[in-house]
Amino acid sequence: MDHFLYRDGALYAEDVPVAEIAAQVGTPCYIYSTATLERHFRLFDEALAGMDHLVCYAMKAASNQAILKVMADLGAGMDVVSGGEYARAKAAGVPGDKIVFSGVGKTREEMRAALEGGVRQFNLESEPEMEVLNEVALSLGVVAPVTVRVNPDVDAKTHAKIATGKSENKFGIPITRAPEVYARIAELPGLRAVGIDVHIGSQLTDLEPYRAAFTKVKELTETLRAAGHDIIRLDLGGGLGIPYERGNSAPPLPVEYGALVQEVLGDTGCEIEIEPGRLIAGNAGIMLSEVIYVKHGEGRDFLIIDGAMNDLIRPAMYDAHHDIVPVVEPEAGGEQTPYDIVGPVCESGDTFAKGRNMPKLAAGDLVAFRSAGAYGAVMSSEYNTRPLIPEVLVKGDQFAVIRKRPSFEEIINRDTLPEWM
Ligand code: LLP
Repeated sequence: MDHFLYRDGALYAEDVPVAEIAAQVGTPCYIYSTATLERHFRLFDEALAGMDHLVCYAMKAASNQAILKVMADLGAGMDVVSGGEYARAKAAGVPGDKIVFSGVGKTREEMRAALEGGVRQFNLESEPEMEVLNEVALSLGVVAPVTVRVNPDVDAKTHAKIATGKSENKFGIPITRAPEVYARIAELPGLRAVGIDVHIGSQLTDLEPYRAAFTKVKELTETLRAAGHDIIRLDLGGGLGIPYERGNSAPPLPVEYGALVQEVLGDTGCEIEIEPGRLIAGNAGIMLSEVIYVKHGEGRDFLIIDGAMNDLIRPAMYDAHHDIVPVVEPEAGGEQTPYDIVGPVCESGDTFAKGRNMPKLAAGDLVAFRSAGAYGAVMSSEYNTRPLIPEVLVKGDQFAVIRKRPSFEEIINRDTLPEWM
């Protein structure tokens, strides 16, 4: 459930008509709902209520400072994957001991910054990284808390570009090698193993791959404990999917996911960490766009809108479906027209939907892309020198621009000419 609903014939974000935001901020833009962000965080928090746990929001999904502040104020931890994300978490007021540092290619600089600023744990992804972190920690005279991300070789049954738990993926250390790796960690004075980490992919719509992975993690917990390692924490990653197609998909709910975690891992006595991103931010955001032209092509009509693949890359990159709805509420049972919905960028891939049934639309009409809050703004670019689009946060009947649209001048001034020109 989210807070983007029709009311009096028009789409609202909480208590604000989105057309009013379009009038003041311009299109295209991203709009987030505070109430939806909060609700989604709480669903996870409550789903794990019976266990010692921390929900670490995977900020890669949507990392605007205002969104992070909403999360931080709820007591969320953060999952970060770069020095930049670490700095963002700190700037939003998240204490170091609630920041989990993930990522396959952490640099020495990133490790140093996190060790100095405070970190809950590093999720190690390879043996060379383990040796480097040991060196960095020793050079600072500290001991780094770590988990090893194990690759359980489980098929997450999701899009190939976002599956991470199969042996052919670049992520983690094969679970079968884990005992050796933990033995090596025990020899390294700069590292202390505190737990095990696993993340098998994103947009999972079935709990069975989770069950398979968690069961392997449980077995590994027992093996490692028997070998004398003090495993106190299990980081289960993120990945729970969201319903991108209303009425056509119903992924498992956080409460069902939580019940599975309790069932499989409840008796380990471990503290549970999870790293949801998409489920928290995805349906808490829309991308609002205006129709520029309706073009009658050969056998098809194109809706040419002012949003493009540089603003929302998911359809071009993953063939992702986003529900696209008119801002003026369509009549129930009214006439529908199939449109190819495209942006202005000079690539055929700049296509959001083909033959999508919509009520008849005209230039100037507004449309909203649902489920665009996660992996939307964060993956946008200025391709075609189209300025990064603004982000707006709504809370009740208030709204505020939380990232403004840069001017052409600001964009141009980011470039510098070499002296010889
Ligand atoms: N933890 C780790 C280690 C991850 O790699 C990810 C996502 C998450 C947590 C959060 O997963 P979530 O709960 O959001 O599924 N850009 C793609 C998704 C990439 C996901 C990358 N890793 C998309 O737009 O579908």
